[in-house]
Amino acid sequence: MSKIISIKAREVLDSRGNPTVEVDLVTEQGIFRSMTPSGASAGQHEALELRDKDNTRYFGKGTLKAVANVNKKIAPKIVGLDCIHQETIDNIMLKLDGTENKDKFGANAILPVSMAVTKAGAVAKNLPLYEYIGVLFGVIPHKLPVPMCNVINGGKHAGQENSIQEHMLMPTGAKSFSEGIRYVSESYQHLAKLLKEKFGAGGVLIGDEGGYAPPQISTVNERLDLMLKAVENSGYKDLMHIALDPASSEFFYDGKYKIGNKTFSGGEMVDFYVDLCKTYPIISIEDGLAEDDWASWVELTKKIGTEVQIVGDDLFVTNTKRIEKGIKMGAANSVLIKLNQIGTVTETLNAIKMAHDQGWTAVVSHRSGETEDNFIADLVVGTSSGQIKTGAPARSDRNAKYNQLLRIEEQLGEKAEYPGIDFRMDHLA
Ligand code: PGA
Ligand code: ZN
Repeated sequence: MSKIISIKAREVLDSRGNPTVEVDLVTEQGIFRSMTPSGASAGQHEALELRDKDNTRYFGKGTLKAVANVNKKIAPKIVGLDCIHQETIDNIMLKLDGTENKDKFGANAILPVSMAVTKAGAVAKNLPLYEYIGVLFGVIPHKLPVPMCNVINGGKHAGQENSIQEHMLMPTGAKSFSEGIRYVSESYQHLAKLLKEKFGAGGVLIGDEGGYAPPQISTVNERLDLMLKAVENSGYKDLMHIALDPASSEFFYDGKYKIGNKTFSGGEMVDFYVDLCKTYPIISIEDGLAEDDWASWVELTKKIGTEVQIVGDDLFVTNTKRIEKGIKMGAANSVLIKLNQIGTVTETLNAIKMAHDQGWTAVVSHRSGETEDNFIADLVVGTSSGQIKTGAPARSDRNAKYNQLLRIEEQLGEKAEYPGIDFRMDHLA
């Protein structure tokens, strides 16, 4: 028995300086700590992030209610249980909450408990966290992910409106994870040089996910041209691909998309991406269409889904009900995975499983508001998902994940695999 002895939540700060929930779970083997991340361009269909709405504290964003939910309502029902029973414990919390969207407790209360249970379970089983997640998920993990590194931040993450949110580099031509992260880091430094030469110090302002957010340029073409130049200057031309996350629900108004001063219908938006993919080595597009514009998603997938990974984030919100609908409609071919969109580790694993069973990919992701908790690094390896999105190779909230992946790669040694350009097929192996 590895009994849970105590659970204590507290309010701490995330990478944006906003409050979030941290949980310490104690067993005889130690203290296991987890923290909840938080989105800025969050989807409408995500599980509830409970905020106090007390405007005298943190502009209403306090998390004392969620903290109290852990300490007073969740802890008394979980303390005394064996931490190796992940699914049972998650189901108890779901039942106690009793709502579809975690409206009673908040996903930000339930999730850090769920993740701390996983961490405690790993130690109880004497396994590294990624291996223990592999046991829960049903794989023997040895696959490191191809990182999607967000080197230019736009949209809400950069204080801008009506612009594409994330411009990412994927080191598809690297031979290993550590080599890939070096390609990206060197390209990121070359990009800084280019931006400084062009715009001075103001060109290297940083957005929420550690990427540059130059206010002087706003079109996607200008941004991608600079990125490709930086990649070339680093000597990695043809070894990198581009991934985009427009986060288009943020610029969707009354059935129309608005980028800069241009307006697009759903069909025109699809054509915009089709053209963009002809000009640039784009290999993945996430949330190119808005969270309920299902018909345009189907059209985009039909037109370029064979060559380009079409990833649903706000569309699916890590929710198997919405993923199932997407599979039936052919609305995408990949699911973005964010633990706090759904709220428990068990539900998250089920979402990844549903994607993989369909031959779809799953991309494990951070949030724009992050913490030092690097759980997602172990999650992506433990589920053999093969892709992680966790920002620029800068700022410790982002690098905590990359650094943990470097440790896992070292631990796996000879057994470590890196899918590179085969990231779309490889998870099926
Ligand atoms: P968010 O953005 O964490 O601010 O929601 C990340 C994303 O859209 O992928
Ligand atoms: Zn997204």
